[in-house]
This record gives sequence, C-alpha cells and structure tokens, in this order.
Amino acid sequence: MEEKIKIPKHIAIIMDGNGRWAKLNNKPRVLGHKAGAETLRKIVTHSKKIGVKYLTVYAFSTENWKRSKEEIEALMLLFKLYINSERKTLLKNKIRFVVSGRKEGVSPSLLTLIESLEELTSKDYEMTLNIAFNYGGRAEIIDAFNKANEQGMKITEQNFSNFLYNKIPDPELLIRTSGEFRISNFLLWQLAYSEIYVTDIYWPDFTEKDLDEAIKDYNKRERRFGGRLNVK
Ligand code: IPE
Ligand code: IPE
Ligand code: MG
Repeated sequence: MEEKIKIPKHIAIIMDGNGRWAKLNNKPRVLGHKAGAETLRKIVTHSKKIGVKYLTVYAFSTENWKRSKEEIEALMLLFKLYINSERKTLLKNKIRFVVSGRKEGVSPSLLTLIESLEELTSKDYEMTLNIAFNYGGRAEIIDAFNKANEQGMKITEQNFSNFLYNKIPDPELLIRTSGEFRISNFLLWQLAYSEIYVTDIYWPDFTEKDLDEAIKDYNKRERRFGGRLNVK
C-alpha cells in the first residue's frame, strides 16, 4: 500500500454473500460458509499487518435464527472449528479475540470455547478481532439500556457506549460485500458517522487487495461530522 494512506483504526465488515457464492459455484450453502471462514482468516491477518487496531465482523445475526436448522448447526460448528484452529495464530499475531452478542440461544459448549479464547488472548495484544455473533444492533441497544438502568445510571450520549457489549471505538469504515445497500441490524449505535463501502464481490471471493481498495476509497472521503470543512 502507498505510504500516505490513512488506515482506519476500526473497520467493520458485513460478511455477506456466502450463499450466493455457493450457488454460483454449484456447492451447498454450507461450503459457502466454510469458504467465508477462510476469507476471514486472510482478512484478519492482513488487517493486523497493515495496522488496523479493531476489526469487527458480522458472523451471525439475531435474525439468522430464521434459517434452516441444518444451516444454523453448520454455522455453529464452523465457529467452533474457527476458534480451535485460530487459537495459535491469534496468539502469535497478538490479536485479542472478543465476541459481541447475546448469550441466549448459544450452546454452553460454544460459550465455553468463546470465553476461554477471550481470556487467553486478553493480555498481550496489538489488535482486537470482535466477532458479532448472535448479534443485533437493536438487542445491543436494549441490553445496554437495561444494564444502565440496573446500575441506576442516567444515560447520556457520552456514557452510553460504556454499556455496549465491548468498549471499542466507533468504526470509521463499514464494508458490506455482495452488493446489498443495507445495515441489517449491525452496530446501529456505532455506525452513526461511519463511511460506508459496498462491493459486489461475494465474501468468499473478497481478498486482501479488495480490503486495500476499500481503504483507498475511504481515504478519498471527506468526513464532516455535520460541520463544514476548511471554513474559518
Ligand atoms: C453471510 O452469507 C453469512 C451469514 C449471514 C451467516 P449469507 O448466508 O447471508 O449469503 P447470501 O446472502 O445468502 O448470499
Ligand atoms: C447480515 O447478512 C448478517 C451477517 C452477515 C451475519 P444477512 O444475509 O443475514 O442480511 P439480509 O437478510 O440480507 O439483510
Ligand atoms: Mg446474506
């Protein structure tokens, strides 16, 4: 990548298009998800290499329970396999693993795996990989609101993010693959001023180069945050 390029501190990705990729390649949907997990491995390593500090990826939404039992089971199993296979790489690359989402509905065995990898990678890290799993933006806002209430805290725009699932700064850049122009209940609070990049590429085909391309595009954006730039 060119020298002058500014790397967003936090990149969020809606990893979409596994099913369509599978269909296009005459494979079962599950193999699309498996290929998607491979893409995630590459993108995590590349993100670390180029200096991203936080990477949040949407892996399973609170609405994805509407899918077939077979597909849900396959997604749960793939996440377990991912946790087991990535343990060493994450430690070696000093990547902290965290999960954002509701625990209800997730099997105790998967929760145990998640918690142990979170613990294992929590000490010495340079990048955070935040997996949104059984995640919904509305659920997160409601859960944060209830948490604040239980603690008798008065919510303000400034303190609200302290009650979200993880204390992570808002993403500067949101990427969605597979050409859909929607948020699908992802990070509703945090995306208020994120730059959005949509690519037609299906997630299993998304490469390191495509991430570089998204970052290059982000560098062309003029972020105004409601104000006016270069006006005295
Ligand atoms: C994204 O791929 C992965 C999950 C939602 C778990 P999809 O499974 O949504 O793929 P499409 O949208 O059907 O192509
Ligand atoms: C969003 O993708 C959720 C994940 C990528 C995990 P979906 O495929 O579930 O979203 P919709 O249904 O197209 O909005
Ligand atoms: Mg989809």
